[in-house]
Amino acid sequence: MSDTAQLVVEGLRASVEGKEILNGVDLVVPAGEIHALMGPNGSGKSTLAYTLMGHPSYAVTGGSASFAGTDLLPLAADERARLGVFLCFQYPTSIPGVSVVNFLRAALKAQGREMPAREFLRTLSAVMRELNIDESFRSRYINDGFSGGEKKRMEILQLALLRPRLAILDETDSGLDVDALRTVAEGVGKVAGPDMGLLVITHYPRILEYLRPDVVHVLHRGRVVVSGGHDLARRIESDGYDPILGAGTAGTAARNETKGAL
Ligand SMILES: Nc1ncnc2c1ncn2[C@@H]1O[C@H](COP(=O)(O)OP(=O)(O)O)[C@@H](O)[C@H]1O
Ligand SMILES: [Mg+2]
Repeated sequence: MSDTAQLVVEGLRASVEGKEILNGVDLVVPAGEIHALMGPNGSGKSTLAYTLMGHPSYAVTGGSASFAGTDLLPLAADERARLGVFLCFQYPTSIPGVSVVNFLRAALKAQGREMPAREFLRTLSAVMRELNIDESFRSRYINDGFSGGEKKRMEILQLALLRPRLAILDETDSGLDVDALRTVAEGVGKVAGPDMGLLVITHYPRILEYLRPDVVHVLHRGRVVVSGGHDLARRIESDGYDPILGAGTAGTAARNETKGAL
């Protein structure tokens, strides 16, 4: 099963409020691989994440996206989640009135993985300890009054418990101090495995030093223009995007890098 559980995106176009943001994204993330998605601000990274997750504000205007052989595009977000697709939000929202413990229990139940209370609490405590989240967070409302770093760890807690087949992390590393980043990256690293595909959207190569991506893609103006190995992320860190995206060179660079990665 694991070799078919891959994300295949072809020529995906999507618009927000009538404005075309994705202009033909091509991307394949096989099960068991870690892919990084980088790109300048506003290049469409979050739009791609939301579009793949089925956010209703993002209208698909062309192309295709499938996961494990199932066409994602006709499915509502909750149906995509049941298929095993998971998104760690760039800006996690708070849900006052819904406690962490109740939210996570309901999420597992929705997946058909209801556990006896005691087993659930034991599992939850173990993962919270690994992620350095204080036990007291269990009874707090989801993300309500959480710091930026706490919100990100809460996303990873969900990831670790729900164990999706495809996880998209939208800048989960942004705004974290070095210790929190290590905790988060190690948490993700523990969850990743041969049956899970990971698409890590990031601006910083630091998280990639922990996660060791198989492929690094660069999104520019709503298209993947360059794909390469891990060293592409390091080059972006040292030289910026200009040498890669410079006028007239992006297409050539894309072909060369892709060849180098194969
Ligand atoms: N809900 C929205 N309404 C209007 N414009 C949006 C919305 N979401 C994204 N955009 C626009 O789409 C472009 C890409 O945004 P985004 O996908 O957030 O980029 P990135 O995550 O790469 O920084 C930006 O120009 C942004 O202003
Ligand atoms: Mg974004």
